[in-house]
Amino acid sequence: MAMKMNPSDRTRSSVSIFIVIGLCCFFYILGAWQRSGFGKGDSIALAITKQTDCSVLSNLNFETHHGGDAGVIDDSDSKAPVFEPCDARYTDYTPCQDQKRAMTFPRENMNYRERHCPPEEEKLHCLIPAPKGYVTPFPWPKSRDYVPYANAPYKSLTVEKAVQNWIQYEGNVFRFPGGGTQFPQGADTYIDQLASVIPIENGTVRTALDTGCGVASLGAYLWKRNVIAMSFAPRDSHEAQVQFALERGVPAVIGVLGTIKLPFPARAFDMAHCSRCLIPWQGNDGMYMMEVDRVLRPGGYWVLSGPPINWKNNYQSWQRAKEELQEEQRKIEEMAKRLCWEKKHEKGEIAIWRKRVNAESCRGREDDSGANICESKSANDVWYKKMEVCMTPYPEVNNPDEVAGGELKPFPERLNAVPPRIAAGSVPGFSVETYLDDNKLWQKHVKAYKKTNHIIDSGRYRNIMDMNAGLGSFAAALESPKLWVMNVVPTIADKDTLGVIYERGLIGIYHDWCEAFSTYPRTYDLIHANGVFSLYKNKCNAEDILLEMDRILRPEGAVIIRDEVDVLIKVKKIVAGMRWTTKMVDHEDGPLVDEKILVAVKQYWVEGVCREHKGDEPAEEAAESDQYTGGFLDCSCPIVDSIFLQGWCGKLSDNDDLGS
Ligand SMILES: *[C@@H]1O[C@H](CO)[C@@H](O)[C@H](O)[C@H]1NC(C)=O
Repeated sequence: MAMKMNPSDRTRSSVSIFIVIGLCCFFYILGAWQRSGFGKGDSIALAITKQTDCSVLSNLNFETHHGGDAGVIDDSDSKAPVFEPCDARYTDYTPCQDQKRAMTFPRENMNYRERHCPPEEEKLHCLIPAPKGYVTPFPWPKSRDYVPYANAPYKSLTVEKAVQNWIQYEGNVFRFPGGGTQFPQGADTYIDQLASVIPIENGTVRTALDTGCGVASLGAYLWKRNVIAMSFAPRDSHEAQVQFALERGVPAVIGVLGTIKLPFPARAFDMAHCSRCLIPWQGNDGMYMMEVDRVLRPGGYWVLSGPPINWKNNYQSWQRAKEELQEEQRKIEEMAKRLCWEKKHEKGEIAIWRKRVNAESCRGREDDSGANICESKSANDVWYKKMEVCMTPYPEVNNPDEVAGGELKPFPERLNAVPPRIAAGSVPGFSVETYLDDNKLWQKHVKAYKKTNHIIDSGRYRNIMDMNAGLGSFAAALESPKLWVMNVVPTIADKDTLGVIYERGLIGIYHDWCEAFSTYPRTYDLIHANGVFSLYKNKCNAEDILLEMDRILRPEGAVIIRDEVDVLIKVKKIVAGMRWTTKMVDHEDGPLVDEKILVAVKQYWVEGVCREHKGDEPAEEAAESDQYTGGFLDCSCPIVDSIFLQGWCGKLSDNDDLGS
């Protein structure tokens, strides 16, 4: 503290060195941008120049004016740790879906592909490096069709799925022609077929679940119909399907229908979809169909395309026994009947069922003596809970036409309307008033964020993570066709609000931030953490949570952490060793409010190339030494260290121990 107020000569000279280095990097990057073919494109630089009304150079002030805003920084104790890059083999590390660990679990029911997280002593405490040549993905919608090869350098899919028209390799990019295994004519044609049965075009169907999604072409193409799809697929040994989906800017998580319930609440999705997804629907006494039934809202649709549908014409090309396929379909139809789904359509290889709107329209379902009804109170209690062979009961209704759980308005009206779960008072702790207040509050917060970061809804940030989403009001305030938000409701949150989030036409997932998220490294452009570190204060290490945020954040991606000032000071200290550029910002209501905002940008660095070295040490020596020493950033590396380039107005950095 004292040091910041009266900077010593040493810091002053470090500051001037830093200015020189900063400018050097700035022009290097400008040059690189002008030369670069894709990724960090000119368009972004241009957009920033246009939108940033704060003058970049005059604001390049490296002295710490804001370090004291907290007033209570205690720098006296030990120096914060510096995190080293992990070995290059961890470039695509997914801690809870690790191939080696997976192999120690049974293959039965895909158990080995489910989440198996490393125990405490096996957690990594280093920074996951980006692969050499990594570039920021293209902005949407170009990203839908092109992924830079360097970002996901696996060609196996292009070979394995060549005939199916999923993905092609062209020069230094992958191209996605919009095919899927099931839609050789393209996803648009396929969606048109679905839309002839399912009200996809008028906002009635908004949220979709794509099970076994491949590279998520369905989700990618549903987007322009204003349908948001949550896609999942397991992490296979060589096919990084979900990584491709996220590189494309399409919502997806690593996941599988195995032995554990899906991490979604009951009655969430307007539609579920499986196209050749290889899930054995006919097996396990219909357990997987019952799980789909749980997450489908009353009146929701289930699409099954591919085997065994239309087996009569296809058994030969599928190289399957006719009788086997016939039996599969018979079992699926039988289970759909028991679930009381209404068969709406079967044509070609597409079959569509609809879940009834309430239990009244299907007396048989709950009265059937053979039917096993789940305990109603556990319908949303899913985290690491075993899937069971039972049917989730409908909420009760007063008349036969009523939609169980309440009717939803079409999207986008749904976004800000009072969700039925709130209106019914079924989320303890929330009333219509508190919902409306929460919505207003987040509109105000987001307005303030946009003032701090002018490119927040410019398209620069496509994949956005809200780590503690509450009622989803942050996502609702940000709503735009250029971006999507993964709304996470922590499993330890005292209020289960994920059902409400889906009722608003947003998507999300349950997760425990003491563990790694089910995603690949570098899959989010912006992470919002509201109250996360207070929530997990006595649950697990803040360091582990921050390292996980660093893992899933793209280089040059941004972070907004909102919390009590004392919590943020601790967080700031940890991230000082993580190659993040940070800045503490006051609450929009002024410096007297205890809640503050810490904004950060992850620096651009890739495996092997970029090392930091001490200011007085020649770069070559630092590059040779294996040690990550902290200190100054090597200017010969393509480090984008300048927070203003990312749209954040104001000074560059007030990381505490740069140069020390
Ligand atoms: C949307 O279309 C479906 C099917 O055509 C219809 O039943 C429903 O009433 C429509 N909803 C709105 C809001 O127009």
